[in-house]
Amino acid sequence: MIDTARQLDAHYDALAREGGDRLLTRLQAAFRAAGHDPDRLSLDTIAGIDQLHLGGRQASRALARHGAFVPGQRVLDVGCGTGGASRLLAAEHGVTVVGVDITAAFVAVADWLSRATGLAAHTRFLCADAARVPLPVASVDVVWCQHALINMPDLPAVLGEWRRLLGPGGRVLLHEVVAGDNPAPLALPVPWARRAATSHLACRASLTGTLAEAGFRAVHLEDVTESALAWRRKHGRRAAPPLPGPSLIFGDDFAAMGRNLHDNLADDRVRILAGVWERD
Ligand SMILES: C[S@@+](CC[C@H](N)C(=O)[O-])C[C@H]1O[C@@H](n2cnc3c(N)ncnc32)[C@H](O)[C@@H]1O
Repeated sequence: MIDTARQLDAHYDALAREGGDRLLTRLQAAFRAAGHDPDRLSLDTIAGIDQLHLGGRQASRALARHGAFVPGQRVLDVGCGTGGASRLLAAEHGVTVVGVDITAAFVAVADWLSRATGLAAHTRFLCADAARVPLPVASVDVVWCQHALINMPDLPAVLGEWRRLLGPGGRVLLHEVVAGDNPAPLALPVPWARRAATSHLACRASLTGTLAEAGFRAVHLEDVTESALAWRRKHGRRAAPPLPGPSLIFGDDFAAMGRNLHDNLADDRVRILAGVWERD
């Protein structure tokens, strides 16, 4: 676990590790430089740095439509990154969200962004391993997870934790990158890994099989690769936005990550799935 945490930290907080300012400081300075008070931000203003998955808020909203959320439900956002989906669900569905992430720099940013957007009362963030979440048995109604299993080498351990945290009938909403049918090696770097050893892509059959073995019944499953690819193409062409974007997190590598992600999707080396499962 310490090795995994260190590798992820080296990936997601690479610029600070190379001697730069810490991520929180860099992002706050970037908003100031763009003319925004870093203590008072809107969800639109921060969308470039809090949606670290293909499709941005549009993809999260599409998945949330399958969630049948009820205000007041307790959601766990697994591998929450800087907390964009946690805030979106709290703001648009009235749920309360605990986000958990192993990368301390992201948890610090998630806390700040929730305070700055007025959502701190509805979202809270924990720095922990998804396989050992410090919450009691049956304490969440919905597990939400976007593009995070790809960083987790022990899928059964993580799903076992979901089972512990959800009561019977609890739901899992998942938006994940899986291996495609093309066995060629991934073009690297990609946003979740700079090296093959830190990318843990399951194929569709093994992901759905492991979910079934862990006691989760598929309620809805779709392959959203085409819409993810169209979104990636559109974003690849866009001029650098005036607001802080993912390059502030990933550094100069982000341009290559975006191109490689596009090529991996287009060549069927990776696919994108979105679905809902129910715990037995
Ligand atoms: C590609 S990012 C996605 C972040 C977020 N879900 C989003 O879509 O914006 C993957 C996230 O998973 C987190 N992560 C990876 N392994 C983890 C683990 N074992 N426990 C908790 N978080 C983990 C990483 O730190 C990173 O923030």
